[in-house]
Amino acid sequence: MGSANALVKEAKRLFHGRGQKQNFNIDSFPPYLVIDSFVDLDELEKKKIVDENSDCEGIFYRNRKKREAFTALVGEVPTKHFLVENNLKFEISFQGNQNIGFFMDMRPGRELIQKLSKGKMVLNLFAYTCSFSVAAKAGGAKKVTNVDMKKSFLKTGEKNHQLNELSGNVQYLSYEIMKSLSGLKKKGPWDLIIIDPPSQQKSFNLEKDYPKLLGRAASWLSPGGQILACLNSPFHGSEFLIENCPDLEVKEILYGAFEEEELESGLKMVLFERLKN
Ligand SMILES: C[S@@+](CC[C@H](N)C(=O)[O-])C[C@H]1O[C@@H](n2cnc3c(N)ncnc32)[C@H](O)[C@@H]1O
Repeated sequence: MGSANALVKEAKRLFHGRGQKQNFNIDSFPPYLVIDSFVDLDELEKKKIVDENSDCEGIFYRNRKKREAFTALVGEVPTKHFLVENNLKFEISFQGNQNIGFFMDMRPGRELIQKLSKGKMVLNLFAYTCSFSVAAKAGGAKKVTNVDMKKSFLKTGEKNHQLNELSGNVQYLSYEIMKSLSGLKKKGPWDLIIIDPPSQQKSFNLEKDYPKLLGRAASWLSPGGQILACLNSPFHGSEFLIENCPDLEVKEILYGAFEEEELESGLKMVLFERLKN
C-alpha cells in the first residue's frame, strides 16, 4: 500500500473561500488543480490562477451554483483520478456536476475515527464513498457496515477499500436509513456509529429526522460505545446535536479542516459516549 501511494502526492486545499467573500475553493490533486466556485469567476481571475500555477498538468473550473461540469482551463479533464490522505488512497471523479467523491473538510473526522476504531464494530451511516470506513479499517476496526441509499456510491466505496487492501469484513447496505431503523438495531450492538447526513436533501429532514436518529442510535450502542455525529448546516451549531442526544456524554467537539469566518456555521462534529454500565 505504502509504495503505490507514494507515487500520488497528498491532496491539499490551497484556498478555502466557500461561503465567504471570495466564494470559491482551490484544491490541489497533483498533478491537477481544481477550482470549485459558487460564483462566476471572470476571465482575469481565472487567468491569474492559471499563471500562478503553471506547473500543473491540468486546471479545471466549474460554477457549482449553476450545476456546471468541470471544464479544463489547462490540459484535459480525466475520467477518473486518485487522491491520497494520510497514506490512504481514494478514487475521485471530475466528471458531471456532482461532488468529486471525497469531502476534504472531513479530514479531522476521519483521523479521529482511525484513532478510535481498533477492534470495534463500526456502523457508518450515510456512508457515500466510504472514506470513514476506509479510515476505520486502517485503524483496525473488526467490522464496518456502510449504509447509503445510493448503490453507485457504495460501489465506489468498495473500490476505495480495494485500493487500500482493506476489504475484509466490510459490508455495504443500500438502505433508506430512516426506513431501516429496526433492521440496523438488530445488526448491532455497535461500538462506534458515524452519522453524517446531508444538510439539505429531500431524503433527510434535518430538524425532524436527526433528533429521532440520534435517539435511536444511542440505544444501539454497546456499553462504552461512541457516536460521531456530523453536521454541515450553516443554520445549526453543535448545540443542536448536544440538545438532541441527552442520554450520552459529550466527549469532544471537532470542526472541519478549514478555517471558517464563523466556526459554528461550518462543519462540526460531536463525539458522544455511552457510560460503561
Ligand atoms: C454528506 S454525504 C456523506 C459523506 C460521507 N460520510 C463522507 O464522509 O464521505 C450524504 C450521503 O447520504 C446519503 N443519503 C441521503 N439521504 C439518505 C437516506 N435517507 N438514507 C440513506 N442514505 C442517504 C446520500 O446518498 C449521500 O451519499
